[in-house]
Amino acid sequence: MRSKARLVLASAVMALAVSGCSEGSLQSASSTPVAVAASTSVEADSEARIADIVSRMSLERKIAQLIQPQINSVTPEEMRKYRWGSYLNGGNGGPYGDEFAPASEWLRLADEMWDASTAPLPNGEPIIPTMWGTDAVHGHTNVMNATIFPHNIGLGATRDPDIVRQIGAATAVEIEVTGIDWNFSPTVAVARDDRWGRTYESYSEDPVLTGQMGAALIEGLQGKPGDADFLAQGRVIATAKHFFADGGTDQGVDQGDVNGDIEELMAIHAVPYPMAIAAGVETIMASFNSINGIKMHGNRDLLTDVLRGEMGFDGLVVGDWNAHGQIAGCTVSDCPQSLLAGLDIYMVPDDAVALYESLLAQVRDGTIPEARVDEAVTRILRVKMRAGLLGPDAQKPSARPNAGEYEKLGQASHRAIAREAVAKSQVILKNEGVLPIKSGANILVAGEAADSIAQAAGGWTLTWQGGRELTNDYFPGATSIWAGIEEAAVESGGSATLSVDGSFEQRPDVAIVVFGEQPYAEFAGDRKNMVFGDEEGLELLRKFKAQGIPTVSVFLSGRPLWMNRELNASDAFVASWLPGSEGAGVADVLFGAVPATGKLSFSWPASCEGMPLNGPDGALFAMGYGRALDDHSALGRLSEDCGFLSLSAGSEWYANGRLAAGVSAMAGGSDLPNLRGQGDGIVARGIDKDRQEDARSITFGPGGSLTLNGSGEGAFVISYNLPQAPAGQVTISSGGEPVSVSPQLTIAAGKGWREMVLTQACLGSLGDSLTIATDAPLELSVVEISRRELPAGTQCSF
Ligand code: BGC
Ligand code: BGC
Repeated sequence: MRSKARLVLASAVMALAVSGCSEGSLQSASSTPVAVAASTSVEADSEARIADIVSRMSLERKIAQLIQPQINSVTPEEMRKYRWGSYLNGGNGGPYGDEFAPASEWLRLADEMWDASTAPLPNGEPIIPTMWGTDAVHGHTNVMNATIFPHNIGLGATRDPDIVRQIGAATAVEIEVTGIDWNFSPTVAVARDDRWGRTYESYSEDPVLTGQMGAALIEGLQGKPGDADFLAQGRVIATAKHFFADGGTDQGVDQGDVNGDIEELMAIHAVPYPMAIAAGVETIMASFNSINGIKMHGNRDLLTDVLRGEMGFDGLVVGDWNAHGQIAGCTVSDCPQSLLAGLDIYMVPDDAVALYESLLAQVRDGTIPEARVDEAVTRILRVKMRAGLLGPDAQKPSARPNAGEYEKLGQASHRAIAREAVAKSQVILKNEGVLPIKSGANILVAGEAADSIAQAAGGWTLTWQGGRELTNDYFPGATSIWAGIEEAAVESGGSATLSVDGSFEQRPDVAIVVFGEQPYAEFAGDRKNMVFGDEEGLELLRKFKAQGIPTVSVFLSGRPLWMNRELNASDAFVASWLPGSEGAGVADVLFGAVPATGKLSFSWPASCEGMPLNGPDGALFAMGYGRALDDHSALGRLSEDCGFLSLSAGSEWYANGRLAAGVSAMAGGSDLPNLRGQGDGIVARGIDKDRQEDARSITFGPGGSLTLNGSGEGAFVISYNLPQAPAGQVTISSGGEPVSVSPQLTIAAGKGWREMVLTQACLGSLGDSLTIATDAPLELSVVEISRRELPAGTQCSF
């Protein structure tokens, strides 16, 4: 029935059949992983060994292999007790609670976890070392000092699988430095609606280009199947994610539903998978999305029949962050459906023990056949064995090659690869002659983004969401776009001045304006249309234009956007994507040190609405567009009509895990970027309500106060949860006198998530700020804060 899709997949599946696989080995009777004899193994031999190990494991230890908690929750003690098969660090995870911990702390934790997982067991039960997975999605960027490569959208524009392979290899070495085994990368999503917040994780809207780039990254990370270094020194386990159709959701809503004929969907969104499998990918991550109403984590037809059967995948399938909990009838700690559908590892960041207990009970009562558990464990051990984590060469993390060689994080050769990739990813959309910048020119560089490495790096950079609050001090050894331009200008015999607001004393020959999207990750980056609402860059461009100064736009973004106004105000316009830590690669193109070869891997929209655009129809620049430096043909004036421009930015102050643009949070006197972190008398942590870190748990100390500043009209509506009644006096104010709300909160406490409506009726005044203050410790969670016009006289409610 899936004949069309089968045809598309057939050639890659054949390639898989001949690729073969190398592997490690394991002595069957050993109870320690390190004391195993070498083996002259062939595939059949190691399969027999795995079968033998599985047959000697207790049900408890087998279930533990299926469970993957995160480092913010799991301790070495718990690891020693349960022997989890794997664990991860989330985007906001760091060793011992410090996401900015030095690399040595990452390695120390890796050792502690490994030691705990390999402590002797009674009765000679086999010992299975654990493994650590991380999101090194554009370099090993959870860790300080790592090389930050361009995000995938930029790599798609390079059209160069070789540079992507080199990036994979460099990333693998940096991962090994910290003792980590497994990378949740590449994303091989085929993003088809650029409103999706993960568009930048997609190489291209074109499935084949995506598949080629994904396969190249896999080969770089793991090595090539059959080569001596496959999964050996300098290589780590890769993951193709998220299977499948993550890039095909309706309206680009993250984790949403994908609708349509399954064969047609496969012919787009499943195409990269056989290519990844042929490249030897050992793990595949199931996707959050549903297809025609069925969540992927519960879809047996696709996870088992298609992925295993038709595509012949023999590695392991890992789940996404609590995604199994979204299946109808499941919770994060109770979900036999996923295992039955074909998932092998549950990513269950904070509820490992509860899930373990329920799975154990479900095998005992026959809900889950033990044979299915054995099958999943077999796949997990197979991957571990191939990766050398289970066998004669298995060593603790710090004893492995590259481990602890901290100078390899961000080493010069890796940064050179990144710089080359940056240069190759720059796409020139307009150039009326100002590029290449002439030698000796006196250049003004403007825009908040120009000297922000964090903004150039985007999401998944040190923190999950990334963000400009990460100053350049967090990126030792990195080069901002500004610093790269300055160096190139001086080298060319000219000069450059950084002037964020564009002011100058000496009139420049040319102004370069660097601007773009603020960093985001996952659903926090979803948008409703293609309007780039931030007008800082536009104002700067228009100001220079009015003075007759030639302008160059360097636009940082995770996707194409409707930029007609900015294009009109620019003499040259470069789509720079999210280049990362080697900003000098941008100057390499601007100054003509390297040719401009970047080509769009996505269609660029002519209109601002934001309907799916995948082809020349409706495109201002079709996929494949990108000018050479000497192409000075006129672009002409573009229409600036857009129905969405007049709409207000929306009245949500905080939603989907993000403070809206123009809204700031203060804890006492200190800034609390994105309502997260530590401030005067307050700690705000990201917690999961409906989705990952969509909510904040705010702990106030005595005298703590939280103030949000923004704009908008009408009442404040707050979705909140107060686990316990306030111990003291809690007040709320909005530009007026503080009003006590302790009695109301006492009634609301302990009743779960509720809505608080604050109108003029109780606050007296509704201004541009909202302050919550307390004189005693208080714990308050919020998931949304918005403003809403309500009928006059509406009473407050809690
Ligand atoms: C993302 C995955 C990621 C996982 C682990 C999820 O929120 O969807 O892409 O691998 O977190 O960090
Ligand atoms: C966050 C999650 C997110 C994950 C991605 C975590 O630290 O809490 O919400 O999905 O990072 O890795």
